[in-house]
Amino acid sequence: MQQTNRPSPEHTRLGELWSILPEESGVDENGALTIGGVSVARLAETYGTPLYVYDEEGLRRQIRRFVDGMRERWPNSEVLFASKSFPAVGMYRVAQQEGLSVDIAGGGELRLALAAGVDPAKLHFHGNAKTDDELRMALDAGLDTIIVDNEDELDRLERLLERPQKLLLRVIPGVEAKTHASQATGGADSKFGLPMDQALAAIERMRAHPLMEFEGVHLHIGSQILEVEQFAEAVANISSAGEFDVYDVGGGLGVKYTYDDDAPSVEAYLDAVVDAARAHLPAEARIMIEPGRSIVARAGVTLYRVTTVKRTGRVFVAVDGGLADQMDVALTGQRFEAVLGNRVLDPWTETAQLVGRQCESGDLLVDRAQLPEARVGDIAVVATTGAYGYTLANNYNGALKPAIVFVAEGEARLVARRETYDDLLATHLPAIEG
Ligand SMILES: Cc1ncc(COP(=O)(O)O)c(C=O)c1O
Repeated sequence: MQQTNRPSPEHTRLGELWSILPEESGVDENGALTIGGVSVARLAETYGTPLYVYDEEGLRRQIRRFVDGMRERWPNSEVLFASKSFPAVGMYRVAQQEGLSVDIAGGGELRLALAAGVDPAKLHFHGNAKTDDELRMALDAGLDTIIVDNEDELDRLERLLERPQKLLLRVIPGVEAKTHASQATGGADSKFGLPMDQALAAIERMRAHPLMEFEGVHLHIGSQILEVEQFAEAVANISSAGEFDVYDVGGGLGVKYTYDDDAPSVEAYLDAVVDAARAHLPAEARIMIEPGRSIVARAGVTLYRVTTVKRTGRVFVAVDGGLADQMDVALTGQRFEAVLGNRVLDPWTETAQLVGRQCESGDLLVDRAQLPEARVGDIAVVATTGAYGYTLANNYNGALKPAIVFVAEGEARLVARRETYDDLLATHLPAIEG
């Protein structure tokens, strides 16, 4: 059930904020934001900050929009969760329970998925620089499909294969995605996959090998893409590679992060992909998609405690985290919105720089955030941080990776604990040796 307590008082932007906060958000009797029926003030108190909080019901609902929507439109299809967007064991488990297959891109994600109990027959292995060790791990685990990126990988597989293995080939579809340069992966200069002319030679090689079961092609044009026509263009381009049993057309659907963003719905995205498939691909082909960000972004928020408020001409509201747990602000210039979660109904009268504690001026969580006059101890909630936040979390300035909590129907459960200072020291030999 969606929360009904969603006021939009004057002198706030709450009315607009509901569309970027998790689906199961509301306000409690103390004027605190609730996620999954639990107040963020209580979550911060119980689990500490910074804290990644996920609305589990909203997350599962969004998965079903993809799974059901794809099945209705193209029954011979498969939806893979691009697990790089949120590689937590608890999330792999939700993905498996909701009928998603899973895309992994390395030995670490493989271990996390297996630890969550994901069926290896649901795993697809990506990566442009897979090592022998990782390929061996994947083959030993009996995973379903390897997405071959290049000829060196075929050399490796020739050495390592001992039984038949399903393979796809990643090709460059020649689509310059309209997104941040670091997130565009489908243009002629991409480091991922092979251009069409070289792809044909690699396909011949796979077809000639007795243990390589070549099934089809894979593409991925990039991430945070807001024009669905670009996905259709990629599908059309890939058809020139030939007729195959499988086409995996990647992920990349963009999401609404800010008040001003306009993002396509899951349905509009699926319509664009499937219409293009009907126009250009064989009717009996199996179509795969690999959404990551668009599954998890909105379901997640990050809670921070305000540690410092400075009014020096500009207003700086500094919190106890920053780009160490929200790296996208620096890596891709991603913009977010924030709210003071412990008193969302107070008038939002101040325009502030919501900054982190890492030693970079680029550690700016929200540029010109509209907030009530912030005080030390307030809880800043940064919205739409469910994708790539935990993924990219790092130890800059000795920061500890935050904990992850899933909330649903008034209950919270810890999914990953916060790192400790002992974790930080654990890999350093002089510290271990005393
Ligand atoms: C091969 C591949 N598939 C899927 C994705 C998921 O993209 P997104 O999270 O934008 O949906 C990525 C991420 O960049 C990717 O590299």
